[in-house]
Amino acid sequence: MTDIDKPTLPVADNFSMWRMSVAPMMDWTDKHCRYLHRLLSRHALLYTEMVTTGALLHGDVARHLRFEPEEHPVALQLGGSEPADLAHGARLGEQWGYDEINLNCGCPSERVQRGAFGACLMNEASLVADCVKAMVDAVSVPVTVKHRIGIDKSESYEFMRDFVGTVADAGCQVFIVHARNAWLKGLSPKENREIPPLRYDVVARLKKEFPHLTIAVNGGIKTDAAVQEQLETVDGVMVGREAYHNPWWLASWDTLYYGDDSRRHNRENVEEQMVRYMEREASEHGSHWYSVARHMLGLRNGLAGARRWRQVWSDHRLKQLPPAEVMKLARTKPVQTSEALSI
Ligand SMILES: Cc1cc2nc3c(=O)[nH]c(=O)nc-3n(C[C@H](O)[C@H](O)[C@H](O)COP(=O)(O)O)c2cc1C
Repeated sequence: MTDIDKPTLPVADNFSMWRMSVAPMMDWTDKHCRYLHRLLSRHALLYTEMVTTGALLHGDVARHLRFEPEEHPVALQLGGSEPADLAHGARLGEQWGYDEINLNCGCPSERVQRGAFGACLMNEASLVADCVKAMVDAVSVPVTVKHRIGIDKSESYEFMRDFVGTVADAGCQVFIVHARNAWLKGLSPKENREIPPLRYDVVARLKKEFPHLTIAVNGGIKTDAAVQEQLETVDGVMVGREAYHNPWWLASWDTLYYGDDSRRHNRENVEEQMVRYMEREASEHGSHWYSVARHMLGLRNGLAGARRWRQVWSDHRLKQLPPAEVMKLARTKPVQTSEALSI
């Protein structure tokens, strides 16, 4: 990030809860990852991985829903298409303390399509409206929807507008729009995050047409300049991969986007707090430090020695060491840069 990228936004304290958020990402934004992100930004809204209604009906609810009080504000993303099951999941989410319940209408994976939810729900606006209504009736926290701008190759703006209009009438006031179509056939989920073209203008048009709704944009946003450009037309920006791979970016968000520079941190200090969290998680829940550390491997990106630091924190051979020892090793300079770790 260069100084040129840095936006100069007016300081205010009544920002939308959706101004900056980190996207739901399966296998990535688990509670350990969110703990790191929260250390970096006090205000950004954090999303869980998608949790299916089936997992909440038949699985280990605590395993799926447990989170730390420090994580607030945090939103639970649900995957499903049965209004009663979604209402049940939303109720559980509210009971566990989530600040928002989000419905996934954007995931294109085949497994999700077989379950008839995710992005294919955009073809069934009235079913989504029923789902949203059941969820809104069940909880008092906001119920929101994350969706795409279209399905397959259709470029019809009206398709998305009618979807949003129908779902808004059922009680959803907040839409997070991944500014790409979902191609339901022929692309992997990964390709579906890269190949369908980004069309931010469509999202800006949606906000113009529904000024009373909160509209956040998602997809391909990686710099402060890009965030600032989007905030000129919509209410919020959701960042996915860039936040995960370069988490230190989040350390500037409070100042840049919320006018709050009260938190002073550096990467070493964040690493130390993560080590304390690893110790606590191990003693209270039996989690291994390795499952926490995997989310912070990008923390030192861009700094000298980042590669070695990352290698130490991801070295399987160190699994038996306590995390404080691993941190010490990660911070010691190798005798020769080419020398492998000798444990
Ligand atoms: C590993 C991975 C897992 C994802 N899992 C979910 C998910 O569970 N629910 C969801 O709505 N989107 C999911 N997404 C999509 C992201 O939320 C986001 O929409 C997408 O990555 C585009 O944003 P970005 O370009 O800022 O990464 C996932 C993305 C990635 C990379």
